[in-house]
Amino acid sequence: MLLGQKRILVTGGAGFLGSHLCRRLLNQGHEVLCVDNFSTGTRRNIEELISDPRFELLRHNVTFPLFVEVDEIYNLACPASPIHYQFDPVQTTKTSVSGAINMLGLAKRLKVRILQASTSEVYGDPIVHPQTEDYWGNVNPIGSRSCYDEGKRCAETLFFDYHRQHKMSIKVARIFNTYGPNMRPDDGRVVSNFICQALLGEDITIFGRGEQTRSFCYVTDLIDGLDRLMNSPEEVTGPINIGNPGEFTIRELAEKVIALTGSQSKLVERPLPEDDPKQRQPNIEVAEKLLGWRPTIKLDEGLVRTIAYFDALLREHGKKITSETRVRADAFV
Ligand SMILES: NC(=O)c1ccc[n+]([C@@H]2O[C@H](COP(=O)([O-])OP(=O)(O)OC[C@H]3O[C@@H](n4cnc5c(N)ncnc54)[C@H](O)[C@@H]3O)[C@@H](O)[C@H]2O)c1
Repeated sequence: MLLGQKRILVTGGAGFLGSHLCRRLLNQGHEVLCVDNFSTGTRRNIEELISDPRFELLRHNVTFPLFVEVDEIYNLACPASPIHYQFDPVQTTKTSVSGAINMLGLAKRLKVRILQASTSEVYGDPIVHPQTEDYWGNVNPIGSRSCYDEGKRCAETLFFDYHRQHKMSIKVARIFNTYGPNMRPDDGRVVSNFICQALLGEDITIFGRGEQTRSFCYVTDLIDGLDRLMNSPEEVTGPINIGNPGEFTIRELAEKVIALTGSQSKLVERPLPEDDPKQRQPNIEVAEKLLGWRPTIKLDEGLVRTIAYFDALLREHGKKITSETRVRADAFV
C-alpha cells in the first residue's frame, strides 16, 4: 500500500449514499471494501467501480458478525426510505442495532475509527426548530416509523457507550434529507417521486396541503461532510448535523420540479401519513465550526443534475416505469 492509502470498509456501499462514498474514496487513492446485502442497494450503482482493482465487493448482512482487516469503517448499511424500512421493520431495527454492535466489535478488535450514518429522524417530529445537536428529540417509540428512528437512536447510544467504555474513536453524523443521482425511483422519497412523476407526465402527489417544510442536501455536499468528519481531530465525535439548511415547502419543491422538467403534470393532494414531521431543518453551526463544512450546491442546480439521472434511467427502461412498477422493489436492481 502507498503512503496515506487506507483500506476502507463501507457498509451499505451499493446504496445511494454508499455508492458515492465508495467512488470518492477510490478517487482519493484508497482501497474500498464494499459490504452490502442488496436489500435496497443495486449493482447499477457500483457497476463502474467493479473493474477498479482497488474495489472489492462482499455480499453480507451486517446483522451477522464480519471478520475482515481494514483501517477505517463507514457504517451506512440500513434502508433509508420509509417504504423500504417499513417493509420489514424487525429487520430494520436489527440492521441498525445488531449491525452497529457487529461493526463496533470489528472496529474494537482492529482498533480503527468508525463513522455512523445516523439521521435527522432521531429528532422525530421536532418541537425545536431548526434542530441543534443538543436537542433530544420528540420520537414516537411504537409507531410505524419507530423501527428506523429508535433503531438509529439505539445505534448512537451504542457508539457513545463503546467510546466511553472502550475508548474507541467514533464519529456520528446526523444526516438530513439528501438527494441526487443513484436514488431509486421506487423509494417513495419526495425528490425521486416528484421527478419521476414529472418526467412521466403523471399527477404529482403531495401529502396534505404541501405546507410541511423540508431541507434538501445534494449528495456531493453530504459526502464531503462525511469525509471531513471522518478525518477530523480525535476529540470531534459528533453527533454533528450534516444537511442543507435551505428550507422549502413540499409545494415549492413540486413547483420547481415541474418548471425544471417542463412537465404538464398537475399537483394532487393526498392525506398526510402517520408521524410525518411538519418541519425539518438542520442547524449546521457545529459542522461549520468544527469541520469547516457547509453545503455549496443550490437546490435548482442539484435538481437539474438529479433530473438528468432519472431521465437517463427512465429512457434505459423505455419509460416503462409507472407508479405501479415504481413500488415494486425489484424493478431496478
Ligand atoms: N439519504 C438520506 O437522505 C439519508 C438521510 C439520513 C440518514 N441516511 C442514512 O444513510 C445511510 C445510507 O442511506 P441511503 O440513502 O444510501 O439508503 P439506501 O437504502 O440507498 O442504502 C442503504 C444500503 O444498505 C444496504 N443494507 C441494508 N440493510 C443491510 C444489511 N442488513 N446488511 C448489509 N447491507 C444492508 C442496502 O442494500 C443499501 O445498499 C443509511 O444508514 C441511512 O439511514 C440517509
